[in-house]
Amino acid sequence: MKPIVVTGGAGYIGSQTCKELNRCGYLPVTVDNLVNGHQWAVKWGPFVNADLSDTDKLLSVFKQYKPLAVIHFAAFAYVGESIIDPGKYYLNNVAKTLNLLSVMKESGCDRVIFSSSCATYGNPEKSIIDESHRQDPVNPYGRSKLMVEKILGDFGQAYGLESVILRYFNAAGADPEGDIGEVHDPETHLIPLALSAATGGEPLKIFGTDYNTPDGTAIRDFIHVWDLSRAHCLALEFLLDGGKGDSFNLGTGSGNSVLEVIRAVERVSGREVKKIFAERRPGDPDMLVASAEKAHKKLGWKCNFLHLDAIIETAWKWHLKNLHQ
Ligand SMILES: NC(=O)c1ccc[n+]([C@@H]2O[C@H](COP(=O)([O-])OP(=O)(O)OC[C@H]3O[C@@H](n4cnc5c(N)ncnc54)[C@H](O)[C@@H]3O)[C@@H](O)[C@H]2O)c1
Repeated sequence: MKPIVVTGGAGYIGSQTCKELNRCGYLPVTVDNLVNGHQWAVKWGPFVNADLSDTDKLLSVFKQYKPLAVIHFAAFAYVGESIIDPGKYYLNNVAKTLNLLSVMKESGCDRVIFSSSCATYGNPEKSIIDESHRQDPVNPYGRSKLMVEKILGDFGQAYGLESVILRYFNAAGADPEGDIGEVHDPETHLIPLALSAATGGEPLKIFGTDYNTPDGTAIRDFIHVWDLSRAHCLALEFLLDGGKGDSFNLGTGSGNSVLEVIRAVERVSGREVKKIFAERRPGDPDMLVASAEKAHKKLGWKCNFLHLDAIIETAWKWHLKNLHQ
C-alpha cells in the first residue's frame, strides 16, 4: 500500500480521511500527539504518537515509511480560544507546521494537502464565496491558517513543494457506517451540541438573533465529513498525477441557519432541543456559504450529502451509540 503521512489523523476529519485513504489503497500513517484526538479513532493504519515539534521523531517516520505525500490536519481549531490565547495558535498551527515542512524538505517529500478554512476569508463581501474572494481573517485562528497558506506558496516557489489547500466550511456528520464520529472536548460545534441538548445535555446556546438573515440567526454551509474525506483522496490523486499547487473551497453550496439546524435535529431525533438565547459573538459573519465549483471542475469532486437531515442522521446515530457506550 502507498504510504501517506496524516498529521492529526486521530482527530475528527483526519480519522475519516484515513478510512477513505485505506479504502482507496493507501496506507495512512497517523502522526498525532492526542492533544485533541483519540487513539480509538486510528483504525486504518499505523499510529505514531508525536508532536509536530519533535523533529527527530518526524524524521524517523519519513525515513521508515517514505510517504508519497502528507495530509496535514493537525492544528488547534477553536476560534474563541484563539482570540484569548493567540500565541498558542501561532505556535501550534504556524511554527509547528514550519517544522513539519522542514522535515518534509529534508526527507524529500514534496507534496502536501493542507486543512485550511473558510475562516481565512473573514467577513464575506458576497453571499457565496469562491476562491478568489479577498482573504482577510478576523481572528487569530483564521490568520494562522492564512499564514500557512502563504508559507506553502513560498515553499512552492523556492523548493518545489506542491500543495493543495482545502478550505473547508463547517464539517458535520459522522462516518456513514458508524465507525467513527465527532468527539471534541470541549465541543463547540453546533450539531453535536444540539444533539446533546436533545438528549438531556446542556441547553443549546444560540449566539445572536440579530444577524442579517431571514430568521436572524447565522447561516453556515454544513459539509459532511465523508464528503470531505473524498475530497482529500481526489486532491491526493490530483497531486500524485502531477497536478500543480492550488486551493479549493469545500462546501455544499447552500447554507442553513442555526434555527434551521435545530429544527432538523428535532425532526431527525424526534426530540426537542432545549435552547437559550445569548449575545452574538465577535467575529461571527452573518453568512458563510461556499462555491465549490472549482473542486467540482478540477478535482472531479461532488457532494454526496446535500440534505441537512441526511447529514444529521449520521451524527444522530453516532451520538446515540456514544451515549450508550
Ligand atoms: N471541523 C471543522 O469544521 C473545520 C473547518 C475548517 C477547517 N478545519 C481544520 O481541519 C483540521 C481538522 O479539524 P478537526 O475538526 O478534525 O480537528 P480535531 O481537533 O478533531 O483534529 C486535530 C488533530 O490534530 C492533533 N494535533 C493538534 N496539534 C498537534 C500537534 N502539534 N502535533 C500532533 N498532533 C496535533 C489533535 O490531537 C487532533 O487529533 C484542523 O486543521 C482544522 O483547523 C476544521
